[in-house]
Amino acid sequence: MEEMKPDIAGIKAAVALLLETEPSVEELRAAKLKYLGKGGEIPSLMKRMKDLPADERPAFGKEVNELRGWAEERFSAAEKKVKAAEMQARYERERIDVTLPGKTRKKGAYHPGTLIVDELVSVFAGMGFEIYEGREIETDYYNFTALNTPKDHPARDMQDTFYLGGDFLLRTQTSAGQVHVMENKKPPIKILSPGKVYRPDDDATHSPMFSQMEGLVVDKGITLCDLKGMLDEFAKKVFGSGVKTRLRPSFFPFTEPSVEVDVSCFECGGKGCKLCKGTGWIEVLGAGMVNRAVLENCGIDPDEYTGFAFGMGIERIAMLKYGINNMKLLFEGDVRFLKQFRA
Ligand code: DAH
Repeated sequence: MEEMKPDIAGIKAAVALLLETEPSVEELRAAKLKYLGKGGEIPSLMKRMKDLPADERPAFGKEVNELRGWAEERFSAAEKKVKAAEMQARYERERIDVTLPGKTRKKGAYHPGTLIVDELVSVFAGMGFEIYEGREIETDYYNFTALNTPKDHPARDMQDTFYLGGDFLLRTQTSAGQVHVMENKKPPIKILSPGKVYRPDDDATHSPMFSQMEGLVVDKGITLCDLKGMLDEFAKKVFGSGVKTRLRPSFFPFTEPSVEVDVSCFECGGKGCKLCKGTGWIEVLGAGMVNRAVLENCGIDPDEYTGFAFGMGIERIAMLKYGINNMKLLFEGDVRFLKQFRA
């Protein structure tokens, strides 16, 4: 047994020395394997016990066991220490300063045209209107003829048109959608149709592309009173509760009678100002009772059903409501203009 003593002492010294060098996790793992692993130095020492005389074995076994216990303890303490150190290093590395100001994301703004469409849709949806989105490319029939505006009708002059060739054109009015709706659905009909329309006009209050919102109601017993009542409600919701409406006689081929609808000036309350050009009234839309001929063209019996229709320019409403003096601002996408509509 005496000759094995140096081995025990040597292993102990070697382990102690190694642990003093502050090994990394990997180095520790390898060293542990070397001394304590299967076939490692300490278990091998145990195996040599059988070479000893029987009376020396218990004392030797005890010593080797003590060595193993000591080594295991030292390794696990060292392991704990490096792991804690590594964790600490990671904390330092990933440290965040919670007092730094947050990253803010700039909020966009809805385009004023979108704001108006959304507002109108919600007002009319509240009255039970369904949304119908028509098509921007139409035929002459849907845009004009079915709307009681045959070729050579003088009313065509009111709406210059982009013709696409053949029978096709870019719709000049969302009214074209009325015909599709009435062809495909039996009354009761109650639709609202927002969309882009096109006319070759270009100045401060006109653009070759602009947007309209069309409304159509067809049922038994619909009268001009229904139109007026609905318009009052619309005007109050969109321009303010004190606003009144008035109907002026007008002409559209697809309505009879036709009216132009004014609202009392929401800027001056009707006294007369710059916005209403001193008249106290502002024109906001065209409307009327659906012409019998249009109902007939769409297969609806005008003796059984009547209806009203209305159409307004979205940009015009946006300009009035937000005090915008040049329509081009609505199409240029200038951020300095648009960001003023940020909620
Ligand atoms: N479509 C007409 C225009 O673009 C507006 C209009 C007037 C629509 C009267 C209607 C209506 O539905 O009844 O000028």
